[in-house]
Amino acid sequence: MSAGRGERLADWFDGRLGTHTLGRKYLRKVFPDHWSFLLGEICLYSFVVLVLTGVYLTLFFHPSMNEVVYDGSYTPLNGVRMSEAYASTLDISFDVRGGLLIRQLHHWAALVFVAGMLTHMMRHFFTGSFRKPREVNWLFGWLLLFLGLFEGLFGYSLPDDLLSGTGLRFVHGALLSVPIVGTYLAMFLFGGEFPGDDIVARFYSLHVLLIPGVMAALIVVHVLLVVYHKHTQFAGPGRTERNVVGAPFMPVYLAKAGGFFFLVFGVLALIAAVATINPVWSYGPYRADQVSTGAQPDWYLGFAEGLVRIMPGWEITLWGHTLVLGVLIPIVVFPLLLVFIGVYPFLEARFTGDRREHHLLDRPRNRPVRTAIGAAWISLYLVLLAGGGNDIVATRLHLSINTVTWAVRIGMFVVPAAVFVATRRICLGLQRRDRELVAHGRPTGVVKRLPHGEYVEVHEPLSRARLHTLTAHERPGEPVGHEPPRRAVAGQVRTGRGRTPGRSG
Ligand code: HEM
Ligand code: HEM
Repeated sequence: MSAGRGERLADWFDGRLGTHTLGRKYLRKVFPDHWSFLLGEICLYSFVVLVLTGVYLTLFFHPSMNEVVYDGSYTPLNGVRMSEAYASTLDISFDVRGGLLIRQLHHWAALVFVAGMLTHMMRHFFTGSFRKPREVNWLFGWLLLFLGLFEGLFGYSLPDDLLSGTGLRFVHGALLSVPIVGTYLAMFLFGGEFPGDDIVARFYSLHVLLIPGVMAALIVVHVLLVVYHKHTQFAGPGRTERNVVGAPFMPVYLAKAGGFFFLVFGVLALIAAVATINPVWSYGPYRADQVSTGAQPDWYLGFAEGLVRIMPGWEITLWGHTLVLGVLIPIVVFPLLLVFIGVYPFLEARFTGDRREHHLLDRPRNRPVRTAIGAAWISLYLVLLAGGGNDIVATRLHLSINTVTWAVRIGMFVVPAAVFVATRRICLGLQRRDRELVAHGRPTGVVKRLPHGEYVEVHEPLSRARLHTLTAHERPGEPVGHEPPRRAVAGQVRTGRGRTPGRSG
């Protein structure tokens, strides 16, 4: 019997691309089921939305600072001189079919993309999935976050409105504060005196070509490394350091992931359709002699702005050169805060001496110090974010701006320390509760009177599965090198891990 058309087509591809072997190997790849694994997917899908909407915007956006006189549908600005970049952004918003929706979708997707990366990173941080062998993938992810922050900054500098120009002024000032080469750096980037005529075109090339290209390549490597390492998983019945329990890629995971993509796209489109973001027409075109009040960067760069706003305006003069410490110190601390989180896997390995492979995730409470460090880092980020909006906080809460600034200055030292101590205590308390549960079972609320008159609460023993989950972790003081207990309880699909000697798959 001759082969059907589909079979012949599959054969044709297999002969040239080896699709059969690839499919056999990877279509059955196992994906553990846990909601927190969806955070990485939110990053991936919002990136896809950014690329799709970004390409649409490039069709109508003119990255030029040539001066034009506006003559479009937005009558309040008719006759006003502005850059072509700003005029084309107004056209996208008012004259291009679907333009405003796509612009807003692009901007909202950017906010969700960075928020997704930060939460995805935190989930890896708190569960310890960054440990060997995933440190390199953590670094690739971290690089994606770092590039994402700058990609967003370059993006919202493009429309050349009063808000984005104020942000560019900030970037210019930060560059000028760099000792010795600051003036050259600023002149080089802006192509002369601020604001110059080149910055929008330069940021445009970086924004639509270089950075998305590098990010796309990094995402591919990042996801390939996830496939190579296989997923981590939370401890549970049948889950060991040597297997992965979950659903296969084809058809279960593919159907779920496909559906989730449309869900993310749909929710973003809904937000973009109903919630205005960056209404550049109400800010007006950028003019170097004007500043819009209440200017705020997008949330993810607010902490960097906070550092600058709360820093006293210190300056020192050395050998006839002025060092503007009020700006220099914040722009050194800003990357250090991020670098700390980037190199954390290596710091932890060094301080704990634990250099073993880990495929089972930690429950955050079982790693009180790491969890406390993560919580303290987030609290510092949030305190500085409040500092970045000190003017808004002051006007909304009817406070003096100096009060808010001083509160943030003190808070950036006190709050992370307090959060560290509190989180560590909470983790230890939760551990104690787990131990109680394991030893005595779950309190049922049923109180019994014993024959000799004593009242006791009836405790119900935990299921074997729950007992396993609560006890499958290392205890403090346990010698490093101890393998977590392994008990096999029937799971779903399981696959072995390939690289460690003795592992299959
Ligand atoms: C990967 C992450 C990306 C982020 C975080 C990002 C972020 C942004 C932001 C915040 C804006 C300002 C939007 C506004 O006007 O309110 C913007 C503008 C823009 N982006 Fe992106 N973008 C990304 C990728 C891309 C890509 C891949 C392209 C094109 C291929 C692109 C093309 C554009 C264009 C042309 C504008 C100016 C148009 C306008 O502002 O209306 N972007 N981007
Ligand atoms: C464009 C941004 C990113 C995308 C599209 C992305 C995507 C993904 C996906 C789909 C996974 C597998 C599912 C999961 O474990 O959640 C994953 C795993 C991972 N990601 Fe990301 N990620 C991004 C950024 C980051 C960042 C910022 C970090 C941390 C700094 C990071 C660290 C990791 C690690 C360590 C894993 C492996 C964890 C495991 O096997 O359990 N990623 N990423």
